[in-house]
Amino acid sequence: MGSFGMNQSNGGDPLLDVRNVKTYFPIRKGLLQREVAQVHAVDDVTLSVQEGETLGLVGESGCGKSTLGRTIVRLLEPTEGNVIFEGRDISKLGTRALRPLRRQMQMVFQDPYASLNPRKRVGSIIGTPLKIHGVDKSEQRQRVQELLETVGLSPEHYNRFPHEFSGGQRQRIGVARALALHPKLIVADEPVSALDVSIQSQMLNLLDDLQKELSLTYIFIAHDLGVVRHVSNRIAVMYLGKLVELSPAEELYQRPIMPYTEALLSAVPIPDPDLSHERERIVLQGDVPSPINPPSGCRFHPRCRYMTDICREVEPPLTSYGNGHLAACHHPLNVDKETLARATVSERYTPAEADEGAKPKTPAKGEAHPIPESG
Ligand SMILES: Nc1ncnc2c1ncn2[C@@H]1O[C@H](COP(=O)(O)OP(=O)(O)OP(=O)(O)O)[C@@H](O)[C@H]1O
Ligand code: SF4
Ligand SMILES: [Mg+2]
Repeated sequence: MGSFGMNQSNGGDPLLDVRNVKTYFPIRKGLLQREVAQVHAVDDVTLSVQEGETLGLVGESGCGKSTLGRTIVRLLEPTEGNVIFEGRDISKLGTRALRPLRRQMQMVFQDPYASLNPRKRVGSIIGTPLKIHGVDKSEQRQRVQELLETVGLSPEHYNRFPHEFSGGQRQRIGVARALALHPKLIVADEPVSALDVSIQSQMLNLLDDLQKELSLTYIFIAHDLGVVRHVSNRIAVMYLGKLVELSPAEELYQRPIMPYTEALLSAVPIPDPDLSHERERIVLQGDVPSPINPPSGCRFHPRCRYMTDICREVEPPLTSYGNGHLAACHHPLNVDKETLARATVSERYTPAEADEGAKPKTPAKGEAHPIPESG
């Protein structure tokens, strides 16, 4: 299967622009429920998504992928920063103002068992968004039946209950529900993780076909880099609330820059047995630290095999290495001297800069690791 959607990520205004977004959750304690700490679930993430693109979003459990996805579709309000959809800042909109936007942005959830109400019939599950948005009752049934066909189910399934379906079919129902209102952007939060491997590729093919037919833009969330490889145009890697690497998909697999990405990649199985002997499996030591009190400097430093003093003290800025490849690391991997000399700290938006256009800042300082001889 080819990658979903377009192959270019540049050119034109983005459909979605996420600028310095922070989403924190308060931790409250005691009788008075005082706020005693905050979970830094998403901590200053900036990225944009072009229309028709599939952006893969990966990272270990708890790194903030779902929180970022939910913030983007405004199921959560960002603590700070801006979510700009089709040129409009939607970060602070209230329930009423968000309503028309709910049609444009939808989520597909990981668990096809938990995300469908077991007491509702399929017709009602898929039809609810239509009802809420005032679609005529007579039209509702027809539209739901069309949607069932679109996702490869039968119009006769209209009166069935979720338990009468397999996992893969239930996920199709979830997709049909997300498509009901002709959205532009779909945030698919681990849409295949709960499915059997044999069913996963069917689901990925369906999403691929739908993207072409309906000009959809996807943010595709996954735990590991294996699943997103063939569906993504670009891939964003998160670690403990931070965006640590963003790259065109194939380039990320060939030339990871951030050591965390390298470690994630080493866990992706290689189909060729000769190659998989050559490659070292990097086992990350320890658990992901707590996002309540994240490590100083580079958040990955307690687990990084390349760590030096500067990593403990200074947070590495997201740096652009050309070709749309960004990474945040003091000791970037797979970067030659010329590329390092040209590297610039990526645009970081502040409210003032957002208006005047963000300026590139000073080049990153750091000592690169040599490119391995094998390439
Ligand atoms: N509503 C909430 N209240 C408090 N903390 C939360 C809430 N939702 C998420 N968190 C915390 O925020 C952090 C990020 O969670 P999130 O669900 O976004 O991670 P994730 O990358 O999607 O993980 P997974 O791969 O397990 O789905 C975690 O530490 C989580 O415990
Ligand atoms: S900044 Fe340092 S600790 Fe962080 S990933 Fe790079 S080498 Fe490792
Ligand atoms: Mg999640």
